[in-house]
Amino acid sequence: MTVKNKKILIIIGGGIAAYKSLDLIRLLKKNNNDVKTILTKSGKEFVTPLSITTLTKNKTFEDIFDKNTESEIDHISLSRWADLIIVMPTTANFMTKLSLGKAEDLATTVILASNKDILLVPAMNVRMWIHKATQKNLKTLQDYGYLFIGPEKGEMACGEYGEGKMSSPRQIFTFLDNYFNKKNLVKKKNFKALVTTGPTREYLDPVRYISNESSGKQGYEIALALSRLGIKTTLITGPTNLVSRTNIKTKKIISAKQMLEEVKKNLPVDIAICAAAVADFKPSKKNKNKLKKNQNIFKSIDLEKKSRYS
Ligand SMILES: Cc1cc2nc3c(=O)[nH]c(=O)nc-3n(C[C@H](O)[C@H](O)[C@H](O)COP(=O)(O)O)c2cc1C
Repeated sequence: MTVKNKKILIIIGGGIAAYKSLDLIRLLKKNNNDVKTILTKSGKEFVTPLSITTLTKNKTFEDIFDKNTESEIDHISLSRWADLIIVMPTTANFMTKLSLGKAEDLATTVILASNKDILLVPAMNVRMWIHKATQKNLKTLQDYGYLFIGPEKGEMACGEYGEGKMSSPRQIFTFLDNYFNKKNLVKKKNFKALVTTGPTREYLDPVRYISNESSGKQGYEIALALSRLGIKTTLITGPTNLVSRTNIKTKKIISAKQMLEEVKKNLPVDIAICAAAVADFKPSKKNKNKLKKNQNIFKSIDLEKKSRYS
């Protein structure tokens, strides 16, 4: 069992399945985890702060403008405190707010300010779940890196049947066990990873270059996934329009030669993922001055193959 001595922040949303969060709290507490909670305004319609506090033995946070709690623990430190944040149930409305990047109450502000993984546990009527708007939000949130468990298929509180039923507290607990297990394994072994991404440019003259088409997105996503597992990750990137996360050591290079040098500097590693689209050719020399338009450019350059080895 690896869900032990962890700090878990649970945000309880306004859905009928909110009462099940009490069961998860009980399971987590039984295994010596520290649990803090935020109850959304709608969540309060379904469970009371008194029931939650009785189980967590901690204050339940509700209002972002609460002067007493803001001095005790502000929205930034609340997100820093947690090892993982769980939103259960994640309502359709809450998914919309997150996909828009809203920070309109304590729950959404803590999430937007968070540097931790966030596990969303959707629960809603099947029609709400399969609605195009919700599915679009799901895709956006997955792209943003939110983790998901469920929803499951089954009979719902409203009497309808289909996908939208919240995963059970036991299923969530097993998910957490696997999640922290993976993290522990990586931490114990102190894994290091290196990812190359993006194109390289081989200049013919100060303004012209040979390159390969590459957005770099794949490498940035791989680096993000590795660092989320707690792996110390170095990203070596050719010119792209992307911005990497602050906890990923990022080295920007232009040419294949620079990429090779940077890779060598960062070895050895346990995992190397070479996703860069390194140019296959390079001119044998770079002209100091811009080649004239009426000059036959390809006559004046001599292409060498396999630039990546030079
Ligand atoms: C009795 C009742 C049950 C509800 N259950 C759900 C639900 O399971 N899932 C959901 O997405 N919305 C549900 N809603 C609607 C949400 O409560 C509403 O969208 C609310 O604004 C969500 O608040 P939140 O964003 O803080 O989670 C329910 C509403 C009522 C009145």
